[in-house]
Amino acid sequence: MAELIRSRASQGLTTVLGLATGSTPLPLYQELIRLHREEALSFETVVTFNLDEYLGLERDHPESYWTFMHRNLFDHIDVSAENIHLPSGTVADEDIESHCESYEEAIREAGGIDFQLLGIGRTGHIGFNEPGSSQFSRTRRIHLDPITRQDAAPSFGGLENVPTHAITMGCGTILEARRIVLLAWGEKKASIVKEAIEGPINDQVSASFLQDHDNASFYLDPGAAAELK
Ligand code: F6R
Repeated sequence: MAELIRSRASQGLTTVLGLATGSTPLPLYQELIRLHREEALSFETVVTFNLDEYLGLERDHPESYWTFMHRNLFDHIDVSAENIHLPSGTVADEDIESHCESYEEAIREAGGIDFQLLGIGRTGHIGFNEPGSSQFSRTRRIHLDPITRQDAAPSFGGLENVPTHAITMGCGTILEARRIVLLAWGEKKASIVKEAIEGPINDQVSASFLQDHDNASFYLDPGAAAELK
């Protein structure tokens, strides 16, 4: 990621990053902050688009992805506020469709995503593309799977506080990124990682669509890789 940012900046080009939240990318964000502080990596030429946001949360809610990204990355690097994009968690129902279309349009206007970072949910979701999401899906409102809501419950202080819906980039949006990197850590991801990599490509495991991408890599620790053949 750092090499891409540096090499594009040296040619006068911006770098468009697609970013993920959750526990998985935290060590990577720590390293980007370190590279910024200690090795002069600048994010002045970087434009970011996050994958998703919970519906019903204000930006400053402690569990909003807006807050998460600022707390864990944006507040510690020199990315410009106007280059940061996340879907809105507070858009009115009747405006969701146009909001999602504008998000897609902003990605296109930025030149498309150069590098998309992904985690994987236990449902096989990338972004919040829960089972049943088409490989052609675009940014839209999604109903969160019960497993996804259960996994989020501890940080919300109980299942009843976890939003039921989110806005997510679609699988089609994600698959248009020129480079995709999925990270997964720990044994609790092992079975879904196996399905995504060695299972059939289908809409029951959105991450399986990555098998068809020509520049996608999975980076796994031994726990997450434990069930691979
Ligand atoms: C986050 C996202 C999700 C997470 C996935 C894994 O923006 O889109 O797909 O990457 O739910 O979450 P963690 O990393 O918390 O296991």
